[in-house]
Amino acid sequence: MNRPPMRLGVLASGRGSNLRAIIQACRAEVIGAEVAVVISDRLHSEALEQAKRQKIASIHMDPKKYETREEYDSAIVRQLQDHHVDLVILAGYMRLITSRLIGAYKNRIINIHPSLLPAFPGLHAQRQALEWGARISGCTVHFVDETMDQGPIIIQAAVPVMDGDTEGTLEARILEEEHRILPQAIQFLVENRPEIMGRRVVIKTTKDNVGSKLISPMIEIGL
Ligand code: GRF
Repeated sequence: MNRPPMRLGVLASGRGSNLRAIIQACRAEVIGAEVAVVISDRLHSEALEQAKRQKIASIHMDPKKYETREEYDSAIVRQLQDHHVDLVILAGYMRLITSRLIGAYKNRIINIHPSLLPAFPGLHAQRQALEWGARISGCTVHFVDETMDQGPIIIQAAVPVMDGDTEGTLEARILEEEHRILPQAIQFLVENRPEIMGRRVVIKTTKDNVGSKLISPMIEIGL
């Protein structure tokens, strides 16, 4: 049965490479979704520019124009609803969201984070992994709740941390995996497969839809 494409609202503050991966996956019909609107808290973000180039509705919302974070998030919810958004993707969105947004889109907001959570939450996750001396890092797509980077995990991908790595090389290796697992997680949601059971997310499987919840390329002794 063909469903209408799920309508995505993407919140992004910066470079927008995950946004690009989502748009490409939608256009290639790898995922049954379309980006309905891109919203950014930053006027000069590559994410907004990209949305404009792709003729996708793009909105800059300036947090300074709102008295509280809640009011700001309520205004975002109005925009998302005006664009009939079903699922909200935080793709490099640098603000903490409030219960106004979480309540309006309960279990319909996901985030991508550049570490294997719960290790290295917060900012500069790649730097944290390097400084800690981790041998393996990666990325995580998770549901967003009131906590920071602690919502139930949908997919993770692992990458090795190499001896000669800098923050930049590790970031690039992780980013490549981000661009795979974020569209994959969206497709799980399109197919209505994730079931949240406490902290755990079970991805329901039928015989025609399998898909990886753990991606672990390139990891072997001696790399
Ligand atoms: C990514 O590393 C993502 O995991 C993190 O912010 C970065 C955004 O990159 N939350 P981009 O804007 O998608 O290129």
